[in-house]
Amino acid sequence: MNSASSGNQSSEFGVGPSVALGAAIAANLRADRALMSDTKLFAGQGSESDSTRSGCGKQDPVPELSVDLAGVRLQNPLIPASGCFGFGEEFLDFFDPNILGAAALKGTTREPREGNPTPRIAETPSGMINSIGLQNPGIDVVVAERLPALAKFYHQPVIMNVSGFSIDEYVECCEKADGLSEFIELNISCPNVHGGGMSFGASCAAASEVTREVRQVVKESKLFVKLSPNVTDVVEIAQGCVDAGADGLTLINTLLGMRIDVKRRCPVIAQSIGGFSGPAILPVALRMVYQVAQTLAVPIMGSGGIATAHDVVEMMMAGASAVQIGAESLRNPLVIPQILEQLPEVMAELGITNLQEIIGVAKQ
Ligand SMILES: Cc1cc2nc3c(=O)[nH]c(=O)nc-3n(C[C@H](O)[C@H](O)[C@H](O)COP(=O)(O)O)c2cc1C
Repeated sequence: MNSASSGNQSSEFGVGPSVALGAAIAANLRADRALMSDTKLFAGQGSESDSTRSGCGKQDPVPELSVDLAGVRLQNPLIPASGCFGFGEEFLDFFDPNILGAAALKGTTREPREGNPTPRIAETPSGMINSIGLQNPGIDVVVAERLPALAKFYHQPVIMNVSGFSIDEYVECCEKADGLSEFIELNISCPNVHGGGMSFGASCAAASEVTREVRQVVKESKLFVKLSPNVTDVVEIAQGCVDAGADGLTLINTLLGMRIDVKRRCPVIAQSIGGFSGPAILPVALRMVYQVAQTLAVPIMGSGGIATAHDVVEMMMAGASAVQIGAESLRNPLVIPQILEQLPEVMAELGITNLQEIIGVAKQ
């Protein structure tokens, strides 16, 4: 499953690895001035791996990195987050995607979408704001072209991310996607589309309803619902989705944020407000994963601010069975292989031999 046939595949999903590290940068992101400098992205952020390095030269016994995610075995918990991996090919220049635990693909809608006008990326200290607007080639192209192309070089579990503007659209996309990937992730939390995704994730009734309807047609894939942090009571909405039949949850999507260009006296991005993500949001994501994990016994993919092996351990101790890495991959396309390399060292430092055993261990 991937972006295959297109000669300009990166522009299909609107974002890709940072410029300084390769030619695979998304063509449309070239128009996003803020993302042109890899060194400036996440201004103010320190080295992501300093805290995870140990001086220990001695090799510890090989630790167990594999995890169970709703009955699917992942060789490790590391997953590129939806929107930050396209349909797979973009990362081939950087590393073999078969090292991943699983891969979440760009959000897919019924119709092809060009996405929002540019600029649609803004920098922030330790994070970024995006307003891509679900740029994607549409479910039929994803099914007919992207998935078969990805399957030629990628052999680990796949997470298809589905978005919609109506319940009918979610249902139609999920019906077409069911069984083609191990997981379907229902994005009911995208802040970058008008009149659509956001509203489903913002109320318990709407989140339950869309989950219940989609559950009727998702018979083979595991159904995860990706929740918005932009709510008062995330546990209530999580409960509603689980009661409606979700196999698991992804927490969290982006926070709402904005920046102002003070010289031009207007918002930096064309849509004014976008989705804020990156290392700055890790504490929010940890808090929400923790709150939900304390209450509900469902598998959780933790997403939001993961940038180091240490963050992975923290997120899993909060209750995540696997983690998704988004914005940091755009700043540093090699972050996932780097985390994979650092994990055993961090585990050894913390006396962890099996990652599965630390899921949800953080308790008051
Ligand atoms: C450029 C960009 C595009 C994204 N597109 C999607 C998307 O299509 N579907 C979705 O569910 N989440 C999307 N997200 C949200 C991420 O998958 C992730 O949940 C969020 O950014 C928080 O993780 P992070 O702090 O590691 O970036 C996108 C995020 C970014 C930065």
